[in-house]
Amino acid sequence: MKSKVTVTCPSNIALIKYWGKKDTGVQIPQNPSISWSLSDLTAKTTLQYTPGSGRQINFSYDGVPKESFLPKINDFFTRIEEIFPWVKDGIFNIDTINNFPHGTGIASSAAGFGALATALVEIEGDLDRDSSEYWNKVSELARLGSGSACRSMFSKPAVWGVSEAVENSSDFFAVELKTTIHPSLQNWKDCVLIVDSGEKKVSSTAGHSLLNGHAYANSRFTQATENLAEIVRVFEEGNVDRFIKIVESEALQLHSMMMSSIPYYMLMRPNTIAIIEEIWKFREETNLPVCFTLDAGANVHLLYSKEVESSVKTFIESNLLPYCQNAMYLCSDIGGKPQIENHD
Ligand code: PMV
Repeated sequence: MKSKVTVTCPSNIALIKYWGKKDTGVQIPQNPSISWSLSDLTAKTTLQYTPGSGRQINFSYDGVPKESFLPKINDFFTRIEEIFPWVKDGIFNIDTINNFPHGTGIASSAAGFGALATALVEIEGDLDRDSSEYWNKVSELARLGSGSACRSMFSKPAVWGVSEAVENSSDFFAVELKTTIHPSLQNWKDCVLIVDSGEKKVSSTAGHSLLNGHAYANSRFTQATENLAEIVRVFEEGNVDRFIKIVESEALQLHSMMMSSIPYYMLMRPNTIAIIEEIWKFREETNLPVCFTLDAGANVHLLYSKEVESSVKTFIESNLLPYCQNAMYLCSDIGGKPQIENHD
């Protein structure tokens, strides 16, 4: 066993959305999803472990104790006991910090649980970092913290959930696409346009449960499964137009499911729609490879090929900033995986 490790882990943005859990098992998705890691939007977590009897967890954010996070972390440790019985005992000092502001709608839980899961696998020290078993284990642990976190450990697109289109895909952990990604879809960026930096209107847990008994749930799960199989082909063949259509349709489907559930939610704000319309207009006028996706919130993720970065930056500055809260947006390269620093 090791005693101290620091891990920096990226967040991720789903292209095919996970929305709905099966009622069998813990955090088992109703449909497969696929995401890109966001290498510049990260959580940095230091875990210090001291053997002992009984479990004590101390959690701080940037050195300041944060007791409000403890219930979620305690639940996580209880869930992973079956996989890692050694976590039943010992003192776990966890300090974490994100390199992006809180409340920007960026999946801080994905980066945070990704970092913590990697740190735990490192502390145990039984697996070789170059093996797929190591990353399967990291991803499985991260899933038990927050479902989408299990996709944050891969530089290539990460698939979580069983799909006939992806070899070794699993509901328990994510795997990276093994196929060669076409050059036209290799070097993309994501700029998150902050429309509303307020608290989430519906928590992920509540959001997923809205799919239980939802009138359109089964069609949605089928469509997501088909979209996933298609986007995997698109990644190989490089059909950017299809990529754009699938990604935008997935974002709007996620929000349609929210608008048609009981209770119903409208998470887009007027400026979300204004930005989407600006993006469509810009694409029609320039024919450049840009599109949007959305998370379960009002902010817009603008995805574009790095080849057109300077035109897109000008477009953001001149057309989109007026719709952003305090003119705020955050950009990241696509890719990245957990970076590990051992202290022993
Ligand atoms: O991991 P959770 O339970 O926070 O769910 C995330 C769900 C979405 O972000 C809306 C979609 C996704 O696949 O990441």
